[in-house]
Amino acid sequence: MNSNTSVDDPPAAYVRPDFNPLAPEYLRDPYPILEAARHEQPVFFAPQLGIWVVTRYADLLAVTADWQTFSQSAARLMPVPEEIRDRVTEDWFEEAFMNADPPVHTVARKAVNAGFTRSRILAMEPRMRETAHRLIDGFAADGHCEFMSQYAYPMGATTLATFVGLPIEDMPRLKAWAQDLLILAYPRNAAVPGSDEIIGKHMSHAELIERWTRLAECREYLHEQIRLRVEQPQEDLISTLVQLRDDAGEPALKTERIVTHLIDLIAAGTDTVAPLTAQLLKFLIEDPEQLAAVRADPSLLENAVEETLRARGTGNLLLRYTSRAAEIGGVPIPAGAVVALSYAAGGRDEEKFACPHQFDVHREDASDHLAFGRGRHFCIGAPLARAQARISAEAMLERLPDLGLVPGQQLDYHSAIGVFMLQAIAFEWSATA
Ligand code: HEM
Repeated sequence: MNSNTSVDDPPAAYVRPDFNPLAPEYLRDPYPILEAARHEQPVFFAPQLGIWVVTRYADLLAVTADWQTFSQSAARLMPVPEEIRDRVTEDWFEEAFMNADPPVHTVARKAVNAGFTRSRILAMEPRMRETAHRLIDGFAADGHCEFMSQYAYPMGATTLATFVGLPIEDMPRLKAWAQDLLILAYPRNAAVPGSDEIIGKHMSHAELIERWTRLAECREYLHEQIRLRVEQPQEDLISTLVQLRDDAGEPALKTERIVTHLIDLIAAGTDTVAPLTAQLLKFLIEDPEQLAAVRADPSLLENAVEETLRARGTGNLLLRYTSRAAEIGGVPIPAGAVVALSYAAGGRDEEKFACPHQFDVHREDASDHLAFGRGRHFCIGAPLARAQARISAEAMLERLPDLGLVPGQQLDYHSAIGVFMLQAIAFEWSATA
């Protein structure tokens, strides 16, 4: 291992100066850029963001398996202004799943897993179907829809609110809070030592107060929701979490940690399934033979969801932080570096998947994709996401038999490092359907 590799100045052979995972053209189609990188420099340094990017399936697996070297604590939150420190502090989020390593992560994950039982996911299915058909009722007679705002995003928000046990009418506020959180977060290497400056983040003091004040309100709101469940438990995730006991009979999670994990779930689960459903329908419509196969045998949709996750998953880059010097695929990575996992690149790695650019609903190893991550941070919402994507797509195909894409659209994505968040996509069909 080359111990001379430094965090700020890696050897030129490893640098890809042009890589920008937030550029609109990359977000629209990251695959040509990721494929070139995977062939030329499978592990490379992107100086614009000061991150190392990993693109090969085997290397991605190796990183996710080694939390001692590749810690989860790659993100930080901008400081809470003095004015509101009595209402909220940054450490509120230190134990979030996406930031925590064992043993903190292990204890919390075990507790929250208890709320994601198979029977509870199965019980959600009829409710998801009902929501899907109710939403379609709202636009079926129009002959066209803007799929994300009229169907996929409301479907995701309603499913999550129902599952967690939050009032559906509060989902817009929850989504906004989740966004505040994502905007206040930054890769820890972006903090300039000895100063308050954070590279790429130029937030006024007023905006900082505004966002943190909203997060303080969010915290207070979730505390209230938890109090209501302590008083009167329901059939939902919050009730499960407040009732959990450890071996000593004490509450398994403190109220403050339940709040953290609820915002964790809202941030990770509100908008992630919608782009997947849109992409699944787009793949099918663009390949009439496969669409016909799925219409003839809807049970194929289950594998079609996996294949969509492999070929165009929702995850952009997931971050890790090297707690010691490391090596990935023979490339030396210094201690204190931020490493970005491109699960999307792994899904198109020809060393793992045959004809990786082809969408194939019959592909036997489709579910080997990494779109939900691997190992201890594997997506806790995966079963819910899978069911939601399948049921959402099935209802659209069932209700709108000649469903097609409105021609000539350019698909744009929100500028986000963690998720490919599709902004809009228009579908059309015969209004008499
Ligand atoms: C298609 C939809 C989804 C995709 C593609 C997705 C993707 C991912 C990925 C890649 C990770 C692992 C991150 C890493 O390796 O650092 C993850 C973790 C997570 N996801 Fe999802 N997710 C989806 C839906 C959901 C839903 C619906 C929920 C909530 C109900 C959810 C909650 C979470 C949480 C809480 C974690 C953190 C788990 C941990 O660190 O232990 N996700 N997700």
